[in-house]
Amino acid sequence: MIRAVLRGTGSALPKQVVTNADLAGKVDTSDEWIVERTGIRQRYIAGEGESTSTLATDAARAAMEAAGFEPGSVDLIVLATATPDNTFPATATKVQHALGCNGGIAFDLAAVCTGFLYALGVADSMLRTGMAKRALVIGAETFSRIVDWEDRTTCVLFGDGAGAFALEAVEVAEDGPGVLATRLHADGEHGPLLYVDGGPSTTQTVGKLRMKGREVFRHAVVNLSEVLLEVLEGAGISAADLDWVVPHQANARILDATARKLDLPAEKIIKTVDQHANTSAASVPLAFDIAVKDGRIKPGDLVMLEGMGGGFTWGASLLRV
Ligand code: ACO
Repeated sequence: MIRAVLRGTGSALPKQVVTNADLAGKVDTSDEWIVERTGIRQRYIAGEGESTSTLATDAARAAMEAAGFEPGSVDLIVLATATPDNTFPATATKVQHALGCNGGIAFDLAAVCTGFLYALGVADSMLRTGMAKRALVIGAETFSRIVDWEDRTTCVLFGDGAGAFALEAVEVAEDGPGVLATRLHADGEHGPLLYVDGGPSTTQTVGKLRMKGREVFRHAVVNLSEVLLEVLEGAGISAADLDWVVPHQANARILDATARKLDLPAEKIIKTVDQHANTSAASVPLAFDIAVKDGRIKPGDLVMLEGMGGGFTWGASLLRV
């Protein structure tokens, strides 16, 4: 059978680190409140010359090099982002040009914090059906440019960054590597709980992020537990069979609560939210790349990826490395 097999990963962060103490100098908050409620200790914030496309390009280049892909051999780029450089053209086309992968398919995909799961699902389908042979799937964001820096209830939660997977369509055995199963969901009823109050077709402005955090939290734990079970049942395995879970890094309490619901041991959960805060679509591939680089995720490992975000959207994907 043909599967989308992971050949390499990469990530990129802006130069500037902003600690909780730095934020406490700007809004009425404290390191203690942020750590206790979210687990976040610091985040990276894009500065001059850094944008979603520069971070995406750096992450994708690293993934491409790790995979040993020549730029000309990449025929699909899917970039998940809610913070594109421009309304159009798609930021993916800028990345494609910067990497020298011209001529193949390149497009952006918007599913906010679930963006990478959606992008991986779409790329997996396209690779398995022969529309492309080699893909870069990227999550990249500069949420610092859409948060309201005067709203302490949201500005402390987010950071900027990018992560990327280099995938290849390969003929493999049943027990071989690749993306094994993906489940994606959306429910527009909950749009008003987490949204940006602007856009080209409504206000002709970019807008700022607005969120009812407590309600998002409640839905996140329920939705994530359900979709994780759905993927496990579909694949005929149990949570105990997983080597690692790489969750969307929104809040350490969401990660812990979801792990408890599924009886997953804490040491199997890759957690980077303390270092990066919530980087939306970038968070899953960024955390994954950190765990590959530090030697935790290894070839042959069975890894579950999961995420939930604005829309609401949510999903999970099971991968044999
Ligand atoms: N510093 C100090 N105090 C604060 C801050 C802050 N940064 N923000 C809010 N507070 C205050 C509130 O004003 C409130 O004060 P009050 O009791 O006097 O009214 C108090 O802290 C408690 O506020 P809550 O909103 O009830 O706090 P909660 O424990 O729910 O934590 C949080 C808030 C961290 C946002 C939490 O609800 C959460 O993590 N929600 C999930 C949202 C999320 O992660 N979204 C990301 C996108 S979606 C996703 O990725 C899953």
